Amino acid sequence: MFVCICRAVTVDEVHEHCDAGARTPDAVSERCGAGEGCGTCIERLTQIVASRTAGRVATTSAA
Ligand code: FES
Repeated sequence: MFVCICRAVTVDEVHEHCDAGARTPDAVSERCGAGEGCGTCIERLTQIVASRTAGRVATTSAA
């Protein structure tokens, strides 16, 4: 399932970036471009990242 249509980023891809160390939507966006188009997916991207990283220590800020 796609999270970001503009950049063709899937839920699985977001999970992979989180598992590889991305702890914020911005960090995921830097790695794959999700959320850098129309912006419609940002809320969903934020929810997915929060769910995947719950309980993990943040290594990057969301500034
Ligand atoms: S759907 Fe993600 S930026 Fe447009």
